[in-house]
Amino acid sequence: MDAIYKATVTAPVNIATLKYWGKRDVALNLPTNSSISVTLSQNDLRTTTTASASLLYTEDELYLNGSKEDVSSKRIQTLFRELRALRKAEEDKQTGSLVPLSKYYLRIVSENNFPTAAGLASSAAGFAALVKAVAELYQLPQSNEELSILARQGSGSACRSLFGGYVAWEMGSKADGSDSKAVQIAPYEHWPEMKAAILVVSAERKDTPSTSGMQLTVKTSSLFKERVNSVVPQRFEQMKKSILEKDFETFAHLTMADSNQFHATCLDSYPPIFYLNDVSRAAIRLVEDINKVAGEVVAAYTFDAGPNAVIYYLAQNEQLVLGPLRAALKNLPAWKEESHSHIQELMSDDFDK
Ligand code: DP6
Repeated sequence: MDAIYKATVTAPVNIATLKYWGKRDVALNLPTNSSISVTLSQNDLRTTTTASASLLYTEDELYLNGSKEDVSSKRIQTLFRELRALRKAEEDKQTGSLVPLSKYYLRIVSENNFPTAAGLASSAAGFAALVKAVAELYQLPQSNEELSILARQGSGSACRSLFGGYVAWEMGSKADGSDSKAVQIAPYEHWPEMKAAILVVSAERKDTPSTSGMQLTVKTSSLFKERVNSVVPQRFEQMKKSILEKDFETFAHLTMADSNQFHATCLDSYPPIFYLNDVSRAAIRLVEDINKVAGEVVAAYTFDAGPNAVIYYLAQNEQLVLGPLRAALKNLPAWKEESHSHIQELMSDDFDK
């Protein structure tokens, strides 16, 4: 009667190399374009979430990093409702043999081991972990692809955090969103030499949240139309191919070009949105210099909706890339002044498997 049923999971952060920016259906969270990401190692940036259900609970509750959050948002309500419906279907199938958890209140306790909402994809790992944890608590038979459809409704980028390695979010074409889901392009083991370094330029909360930022871009930017109609569909195929062929140079060019175009559409929005700052721009120049000195493309930068840089490189080029980055870190006053500025080497144990 007073039992508490529990499940704990972790979900990793993913960083898009082909950006999702724009919704064609706000209610269902359907994107205007497909996107691609690389999932970071669970050893580095991750969310750990425990979902529990009990007759002892008197309301649904959500705790994020120790503080109680509002669960009345549409996103959370949708996830709770859909997950309960899936559990209910199982309870109905196995008449009487399953505890009726679908009728119990839920408690979700979530911890990030990195700054929340600083452009470090915290909502991606957070919503992915929520869906995974409740799915596990409910022992749902759904595949990760099917669960990604749910996670997408929490936060678009979250659907990609259901998988390790190299992941595509296929935008889909159905009006009900049932084919807008994440799929794995290749597992981590396919290209284990890939590494990433994160330059935490600022751990402050970002100015313009992604959701409202992208809606402003869709409404006001003409460059955005060109991007979704003519640029991204081609890039999506090219980037998938570069991953499958382990062609770092092409992957890097596409990644940098896509980050630049995404931030250009932000600037082309009205009023303009600025996510990059002077330190971000210095990081871009530095990566360009590193590639010039190397005589080939050994590093690729990308920035989400914040000033922090993620730099991809191959293990064999680590010294070539991290050496100058570390040296520059010492010479850039802004990097020294900011207490959170540091270079964090990720994926030394590499991506999530
Ligand atoms: C720049 O997934 O946070 O990181 O669906 O409104 O929750 P919502 O947006 P969100 O946007 C992420 C934008 C991005 C690019 C990306 O991850 O693809």
